[in-house]
Amino acid sequence: MAFSYSSSSFLLLLVVFCLWQLPFAFSDQPNCKAWLVQSVPTDMPDLRLVPGVLSTGDVLQWLAGNATTSLDLTVQYWELLAEPNNSKSGDYGFSDADMKKFGADVGRQVYQSLVDAAYRKVPIRIIQHSGVYPSYVQEASDLAAGHPNVKNVTLLLSKWWGTGIVHCKVWISDNKDIYIGSANNDWKSLTQVKELGIYLVGCPKMADAVENYFNNLWTLSTLNSTDYTRTIVDSQWQASRVVPCWSNFIPKEERCSSPLPPAIDIPHVNGYPIIEDPSTFDVSIETPGVDASTATSDSSYLSFAPPELLFDKFQSDEQGWIETIKSVKVGGTVRINTMDWLGQSQFANPMIFWDSLTTAISEVVFAKNATVHLLVAYWAHSLDNADKYLKNLLYTNVLCSSSKYNHCGGKVEIRYYIIPGYNKTGPAIANGAATGNLYPDYSRVNHGKYAVSDVRAHIGTSNLIWDYFYSTAGVSFGTYNPSIVKQVQQVFDADWDSPYAQPVQPLSS
Ligand SMILES: *[C@@H]1O[C@H](CO)[C@@H](O)[C@H](O)[C@H]1NC(C)=O
Ligand SMILES: *[C@@H]1O[C@H](CO)[C@@H](O)[C@H](O)[C@H]1NC(C)=O
Ligand SMILES: *[C@@H]1O[C@H](CO)[C@@H](O)[C@H](O)[C@H]1NC(C)=O
Ligand SMILES: *[C@@H]1O[C@H](CO)[C@@H](O)[C@H](O)[C@H]1NC(C)=O
Ligand SMILES: *[C@@H]1O[C@H](CO)[C@@H](O)[C@H](O)[C@H]1NC(C)=O
Ligand SMILES: *[C@@H]1O[C@H](CO)[C@@H](O)[C@H](O)[C@H]1NC(C)=O
Repeated sequence: MAFSYSSSSFLLLLVVFCLWQLPFAFSDQPNCKAWLVQSVPTDMPDLRLVPGVLSTGDVLQWLAGNATTSLDLTVQYWELLAEPNNSKSGDYGFSDADMKKFGADVGRQVYQSLVDAAYRKVPIRIIQHSGVYPSYVQEASDLAAGHPNVKNVTLLLSKWWGTGIVHCKVWISDNKDIYIGSANNDWKSLTQVKELGIYLVGCPKMADAVENYFNNLWTLSTLNSTDYTRTIVDSQWQASRVVPCWSNFIPKEERCSSPLPPAIDIPHVNGYPIIEDPSTFDVSIETPGVDASTATSDSSYLSFAPPELLFDKFQSDEQGWIETIKSVKVGGTVRINTMDWLGQSQFANPMIFWDSLTTAISEVVFAKNATVHLLVAYWAHSLDNADKYLKNLLYTNVLCSSSKYNHCGGKVEIRYYIIPGYNKTGPAIANGAATGNLYPDYSRVNHGKYAVSDVRAHIGTSNLIWDYFYSTAGVSFGTYNPSIVKQVQQVFDADWDSPYAQPVQPLSS
């Protein structure tokens, strides 16, 4: 009796459960899918490739190729079409055969995919910085010329923050497919610069949020910055500087009302503190590049810079980085990859001291016995004071075991990533003579910006310097999805363990 009672109630439960599941089980809404995306420079035979990672050149062509209703791009600069015949270009003087070997064809294919989308009458919006010498925003203008469906705006963030640029590299296609990563809109970012990004497919919720940020940048481009900026004394950074008039760095009673969708209101605080419960996405993400198993539902997030462009309850990009470092478990490892590293500003005047990430690293080394692996690019345009700040960070190891009462089980290790040929870059011909350069200018560099602990991965567009978090446009995607976390670790370790990584020497004591 008891048996039959419980089995019939089980059946009833089953029926109720199935009915409740019905709309979901039969919904045609597929899961969001994610792949890591890389660019790997040519001529790096000793680099182990991680299977299942897509190539940037393919992904950008797919985003353009699949677009039917919208294609939105943020662009720092353009050079998808190589210019070996332009004496002002860093590509000058290389032969057709050289360009082919360098992979310049991929840039042409990506540009063609944008041209094709323009001809298909896909509404395309481009927000760009001013571009770089010698062609600036010519490629965007060419795309827009004769295509009323293509709109290009140049947004100069220095008018809003004193310094700063549109530095995020984001493509959003049909409000559901996204690229976020380190790759610029030039041919070298596809085959001559090492890049990392994420390709999200069928993710309308995340696309909506990125779109919101995009629209905010678009709105800025339509406003007269003179009417909306103030010069303030920023008490957090001790610097006099220009900020939008709705900034939290301005005392509350003196702020203007923001023309952008509002962010979380933080009373009694000047600045943008860490927020306790930032917005997250609890969406199932499939990772076909890692495993064919079903999607797991793990928390993911987006973070944005500068903080005056935050909306809803999204976290700042600085918070995204700090909390990724702090997510490490006791005895775990944090891996950080960046082109640049400074514990200060690079462009701000007056200069600003900034130890946010250094402090987060030292904290987990001291209290959690964490191992931190930091990989920094060493290339033709390395910043001259980076080495000093890296040695300063390495000094954490000395401080951690500086007393017989300190029981230090953590450590920081730093390596430079050196891509062969980095010191032979530039035009092949200058002033009519052969230079002996082997690669075009501004190439052969590890340009990825990401961090991964044992539980959380963060893939961004910002260099690790104050300006990128407080005056420059940046976007990151982060997640606790274990497959993505594992694969980002593998990508990092392939670089870290390669002969291209060389230890940074500590200060000699
Ligand atoms: C659309 O994207 C998928 C991958 O997400 C790709 O396989 C396909 O080739 C793309 N289609 C076009 C027309 O680019
Ligand atoms: C550069 O000029 C050479 C010689 O005229 C030509 O063969 C080559 O296709 C040109 N390259 C590009 C990228 O325009
Ligand atoms: C956008 O493209 C058009 C060509 O249609 C060009 O005239 C214009 O200068 C471009 N705008 C910007 C801001 O570059
Ligand atoms: C912006 O506003 C300032 C002051 O209100 C004005 O002098 C200037 O002409 C405006 N600029 C533009 C481009 O409208
Ligand atoms: C960290 O390592 C030290 C030295 O091995 C040890 O004494 C300490 O208990 C560890 N701390 C934690 C939080 O595990
Ligand atoms: C260029 O870099 C290589 C290592 O990749 C090094 O052996 C060589 O000495 C460097 N050359 C110059 C001129 O610095």
